[in-house]
Amino acid sequence: MTVHFIGAGPGAADLLTLRGRDLIARCPVCLYAGSLVPAGVLAHCPPGARIVDTAPLSLDAIVAEMQQAHDAGLDVARLHSGDLSIWSAVGEQMRRLDALGIPCTMTPGVPAFAAASAALKRELTLPEVAQSLVLTRTSGRASSMPERERLATFAQSGATLAIHLSIHVLARVVEELTPYYGGGCPVALVYRASWPDERVVRGTLADIEARAAETPMERTALILVGPALASEDFRESALYDAGYDRRFRPSGER
Ligand SMILES: C[S@@+](CC[C@H](N)C(=O)[O-])C[C@H]1O[C@@H](n2cnc3c(N)ncnc32)[C@H](O)[C@@H]1O
Repeated sequence: MTVHFIGAGPGAADLLTLRGRDLIARCPVCLYAGSLVPAGVLAHCPPGARIVDTAPLSLDAIVAEMQQAHDAGLDVARLHSGDLSIWSAVGEQMRRLDALGIPCTMTPGVPAFAAASAALKRELTLPEVAQSLVLTRTSGRASSMPERERLATFAQSGATLAIHLSIHVLARVVEELTPYYGGGCPVALVYRASWPDERVVRGTLADIEARAAETPMERTALILVGPALASEDFRESALYDAGYDRRFRPSGER
């Protein structure tokens, strides 16, 4: 018996990997992390599956569900929104499973920042504008930020920032970033990327708070900041340049 941790994607049910879908379809138990996992993903569960929303459960209770399935010889599909590699709490669950001798696997999912990039139709890294994307958050009730991971520290690089779990402190984010990026720096707020009620608000550090007030957003939103969000005069990538030697297109070939 195995617990399969599966990234359920950002919201749209068809942004699930084929591997994730097939695993869900063959697990008689499905534990899913609340309202951020769409009903269309749960629809892949086999008939008669035990399907449990773990949002109201403690870690002890979640692990007890896994142990119960293990004792009954049943595989578990454990779904978390987006991808598992960021803010999914799989680390603590896998540590418990290791201690109990229960095997597990991880299947990646489409992260929210990728869905937000698609909603904006913007590449988040552009030649000579921004070549790094920082996935970060501000401190919240459940987790404080390590001292060296302050927004101001990341802002010094000028990279594109994808700030999670922070739409409720937009004013603080703006205040901390403005000295580094300047008031004219583009900002995009993407609410529920890929869900039917997806909304996008674009602006600059100087006016994004006023614009956000016209379109209130709660919780499931990303704050994207950086010049790559609006740059149009960036240099083309050397990769496709006619004079650039590549393994499959030696110099001179078009
Ligand atoms: C607990 S984190 C989960 C991140 C997830 N594991 C991922 O790979 O994107 C939840 C935060 O991710 C962001 N988020 C998740 N889904 C989103 C979506 N569909 N649109 C915009 N932001 C989203 C929001 O900032 C939200 O507060």
